[in-house]
Amino acid sequence: MTALDPRPARSPGITYQELLDTDTHPVPDVLRLESPRFLGDADISIERYISREYHELEKERLWKRVWQFACREEHIPGPGDYNLYEIADMSFIVVRQPDMSIKAYPNACLHRGRRLKDYDGHCSELRCPFHGFAWALDGSLADVPARWDFPHVDDRAEVDFMLPECKVATWGGFVFINPDPNCEPFDDFVRDLAEQFEVWKLEDRYVEAHVTKVIAANWKIAQEAFSEAYHVNATHPQILYYLGDTNSQVDVWENCSRVITPALTPSPLLWYEVSQDEMMRSMLDVRTDQDSPVPVPDGASARAIGAAMGRERWRPIAGDMVDSMSDAEFMDSIDYTLFPNFHPWGAFNRIVYRFRPNGDNHRSAIMEVLFLSPFEGERPAPAARRDLTIDESWTTATELGMLAKVFDQDVFNMSKVQLGLETTFKPGITLANYQESKVRWLHTKLGEWVGR
Ligand code: FES
Ligand SMILES: [Fe+2]
Repeated sequence: MTALDPRPARSPGITYQELLDTDTHPVPDVLRLESPRFLGDADISIERYISREYHELEKERLWKRVWQFACREEHIPGPGDYNLYEIADMSFIVVRQPDMSIKAYPNACLHRGRRLKDYDGHCSELRCPFHGFAWALDGSLADVPARWDFPHVDDRAEVDFMLPECKVATWGGFVFINPDPNCEPFDDFVRDLAEQFEVWKLEDRYVEAHVTKVIAANWKIAQEAFSEAYHVNATHPQILYYLGDTNSQVDVWENCSRVITPALTPSPLLWYEVSQDEMMRSMLDVRTDQDSPVPVPDGASARAIGAAMGRERWRPIAGDMVDSMSDAEFMDSIDYTLFPNFHPWGAFNRIVYRFRPNGDNHRSAIMEVLFLSPFEGERPAPAARRDLTIDESWTTATELGMLAKVFDQDVFNMSKVQLGLETTFKPGITLANYQESKVRWLHTKLGEWVGR
């Protein structure tokens, strides 16, 4: 990968690193990293979004071979708990073992192929609902009804009636699977990301909210809408007063990338000055005829006040650790992506996204949002998943708070992007060199995996 000169191609206004210099607390080293990459400026072929053939190639060369986030460990806390992970036309059972390790199997009976499980749940064995073949949790064949009729079925553990296994690994409380028995070691795959999350231990969080929604667009259209802040000015103009959209820092490593978008600093795209008090009012969504609950006095910094509020919000749960955290960690969107589709946010923004094809439909996706929150004492049970249909607004999911309205604005574009790409005469999309370099990175990696 070629390094991009970090100076010339940047928005006017304060850089993210200069903003960090004003922090009231020590800034962690991870936020001081800068890794701009220039990966070329050629258009990206629209076939990647609209062609059935490309979707088939993704299934064969990406989803059957890549490490992918399946569920949280807390979704399967005890032996026999299992979770279904579905990707394109495939389904896998992720099941907790008696020794608390985790195994994953293709969700298919070895008799005549029925899915073994239709829902998440708990079981003492994996028994097929069709004719009743059963496997122990460890995948060994446990029961064949009318066994006398299958003298040709060998049930010794090491032979063909053992459930085939996927590779399984865990990181940060997440369970990853890989259907490819010859895949690269997970530690190598996750290293870039794992090193950067040493300061933000996601294994110590619990799933406070979990919402999915069906999107009428290819999964990459949905994902890319959350891979840059360049769209904020046109799609979310209401947040420009307090978001440094085009000041975002974009960093690309080999297998992960990030966009950091600072808050409580005004957008450089505004052509007039915004006071510190106006920024705070805008972030808190205070009407012009209302008094602000957090007035910012002349000379004070809205960003420092906002971060102090964040510290006090989390102090009862996270303890005095909040005093060692920077303003940036309370205020900014630190949005990481591990290839291909796993998006944990750093620090206290709590968001994790995942984007997948919706079943075998390359013109539809499932967007998923989890809030990972700190907790005190015993781990709370993970939130039940709420599944929104294609027509339901994110605001139905009140647990997402003010973010839901922003998501609705993002989703409003997605089906229109799909329709536009289906109709355009232009063979490719064009990307900004710096602000959209995370989108470029995704496509560079995808090209390496898919082979075109
Ligand atoms: S298909 Fe599963 S027991 Fe027959
Ligand atoms: Fe957005």
